[in-house]
Amino acid sequence: MIYVLDFGSQYSHLITRRVRELGVYAELVPPNIPAAKLKNAEGIIFSGGPQNLSSSGALRADKAIFHLGIPLLGICYGLQLMAYELGGKVTAGRKREYGRTDVRITGASPIFRGLQANQETWMSHGDHVTKLPAGFRVIASSKNCPIAAISNETKKMYGLQFHPEVIHTKNGMKMLDNFLKICGAGRVWTMKDFVGREIANVRKNVGKDKVLCALSGGVDSAVAATLVHRAIGRQLVCVYVDTGLMRQGETEEIQKVFKTYQKIDLRVIRAEKEFFRALKGVTDPERKRKTIGALFIKIFEREAKNIGGIKWLVQGTLYTDAITSGISVGGSAALIKSHHNVGGLPKKLGFKLIEPLRELYKDEVREIGRILGLPDSIVHRQPFPGPGLAVRILGEVTPEKVKLLKEADKIVCEEILKAGLQKNIQQYFAVLPSIRSVGVQGDARTYGHAIIIRAIETRDFMTADFAKIPFPLLQTISVRITNEVRGINRVAYDITSKPPATVEWE
Ligand code: XMP
Repeated sequence: MIYVLDFGSQYSHLITRRVRELGVYAELVPPNIPAAKLKNAEGIIFSGGPQNLSSSGALRADKAIFHLGIPLLGICYGLQLMAYELGGKVTAGRKREYGRTDVRITGASPIFRGLQANQETWMSHGDHVTKLPAGFRVIASSKNCPIAAISNETKKMYGLQFHPEVIHTKNGMKMLDNFLKICGAGRVWTMKDFVGREIANVRKNVGKDKVLCALSGGVDSAVAATLVHRAIGRQLVCVYVDTGLMRQGETEEIQKVFKTYQKIDLRVIRAEKEFFRALKGVTDPERKRKTIGALFIKIFEREAKNIGGIKWLVQGTLYTDAITSGISVGGSAALIKSHHNVGGLPKKLGFKLIEPLRELYKDEVREIGRILGLPDSIVHRQPFPGPGLAVRILGEVTPEKVKLLKEADKIVCEEILKAGLQKNIQQYFAVLPSIRSVGVQGDARTYGHAIIIRAIETRDFMTADFAKIPFPLLQTISVRITNEVRGINRVAYDITSKPPATVEWE
């Protein structure tokens, strides 16, 4: 177990992620965590952070951590904090270093074992260490930062001014691997072991109780439900609410995968009519989202009561969802959209929670899905918003518009898959802007709807670029949509990144 103290760097998560990739379980913890809580660690890492040690509000760590005798690695701000607290000096640099920086290893150290002297690294700092604490020596320098890495081999304390966790530091993984060797950490974090452990946990906690899970069709709830089903079989009841706003064929696929193949007790609630009724006349995007979210909860609650005797609720909460509050240092963010998803069911339902994925990242969840034998179509499913196609239809949502959009969307998906582009394009779909225009089809005038194709490339969905789909493929999609979907006579391609746009249109 490695603890990563989060001083607010954008890359804190990435450190945890990398350590896990190297086969050691790592957890992100608040910067002010008491040393007593870290005693079971094999190693401790201090992350970077946006602050300056000279400012009064700078985050500090419990000083007792330095006396635990556990190997310590400080990264960027983490290095500066370690040096400062142990008697060194940190000063604002005359020149700041951002981005690619050449670093020269000047002293042999196990943290750099197996590496050449010249290293390509990635820096992002203004301050730097100008005086070493007692017992430390310099082991690497850059042009503007003479103290770019330090070590105290007796105490097994290391500091790197650059970020080994980002891919731009070419041998960053090797350095982290070296640190784990210094820690003597066992490489026992594998997804297969995790699945076995988690199944046993669920069995032990739940006993003979009845458990409920809301399936959305997304990968998180699908994997969570499958894992819990492996543990307790028919004690699990899954509920899938068909809002009428799902993609073409989605409900049928969910039924096939979960009910037919896995023999899960799946209740499909056909609620199209209720949703269309609630959405009648609603044009404001936020009202639309709130209406759908509230109705979903109402229907789910109703169904839970019908089933009766439920004690537990399975949620597909991921690590990133779970720690957003309370740990990260950043300020409050502006509300761009009210998200709705099945992971956000309210506490007042009164169930105890089972969150088997709470320690995992998205790609780890996909791997578990594969281990559990879920088909690729579920494991590699592109994200789909909780409010469904309603946020891809501008203005009022009607059954007629949903039908048009479903047909057009199916063509977009089919063609992207056929061209094998799905690996590079993280999301691709059709939007119905509720604009009609004049066209000519079969020598006659038409006044039809337009369709907009949206396809994006992204790592984390926080920022995104529009995908550069080849023109011939766009042409194929355009021809197919206008030929096959009666009522559409125009197709456009959205060439906006995020920001300024968002991925979804509403
Ligand atoms: P935006 O449109 O905010 O989308 O740039 C970023 C990612 O989030 C998805 N999205 C949602 N997911 N509930 C969800 O579970 C929602 O209400 C929701 N709205 C947007 C969107 O598809 C994209 O992947």
